[in-house]
Amino acid sequence: MRSIMILNAKGGSGKSTLSTNLASYYASNGNKVLLVDYDPQHSSLDWLKERPVGRPGISAVDGSAGTVRTPRNIDYVIYDTPAAVRGKELAALIRKSQSIIIPVLPSPIDMRAATPFIREVLNNGKVSRKETRVALVANRCRETTNVYHMLEEYLKKMRKAPFISVLRETQNYNKASERGLGIFELPGYLVNRDLEQWDPIIQWLSSRRSQPIKRK
Ligand SMILES: Nc1ncnc2c1ncn2[C@@H]1O[C@H](COP(=O)(O)OP(=O)(O)OP(=O)(O)O)[C@@H](O)[C@H]1O
Ligand SMILES: [Mg+2]
Repeated sequence: MRSIMILNAKGGSGKSTLSTNLASYYASNGNKVLLVDYDPQHSSLDWLKERPVGRPGISAVDGSAGTVRTPRNIDYVIYDTPAAVRGKELAALIRKSQSIIIPVLPSPIDMRAATPFIREVLNNGKVSRKETRVALVANRCRETTNVYHMLEEYLKKMRKAPFISVLRETQNYNKASERGLGIFELPGYLVNRDLEQWDPIIQWLSSRRSQPIKRK
């Protein structure tokens, strides 16, 4: 079973968007997916309520309500997490996952907030021992803007975590989300560019680089 968490203490950075899209991607590819929503706002659970009958099913658990038991037959567990997690709460979340993706927005406020947060994640014992692997994604980017280039430079400089992709700002995420779908389930002509941008994320998640290193 693969466990993947989307994490950033900054609100609105795209945690629920990345979580639900990943869940939809793996489910659409025939996998048994469990979406665990640790956020009491329940954005991921609300998304799933809109999912049309007939689309590949996704199981869900409200992680904010207590202990989560993962059924044995699950292939992928995706954790959506709340904003403002730090300290012990953050360490407890990190312990649950093999792979963590941190989405960061191109805004000075988000980049400033990301610096101590990313540092805290990278200094976590499990992460520094490579038992949990971390990658960075730029989200809601408009390539013509200066602040996008600032974000790109900023993420490239993070030595201990790879910067794996840039997701553009597009209404496709809202179009999919309001229907309980992921962009992978929208017509190809609409989302071709988005699928290309997701490709390195999926590649990273299927590579050994995103999985705990095995010690002898
Ligand atoms: N690439 C994108 N393009 C356009 N809109 C986006 C994109 N990513 C996220 N959004 C929108 O930005 C808003 C915030 O995204 P999302 O809810 O995923 O963030 P979050 O980190 O889960 O927020 P919270 O911290 O409140 O849980 C949503 O309205 C979402 O649809
Ligand atoms: Mg959210």
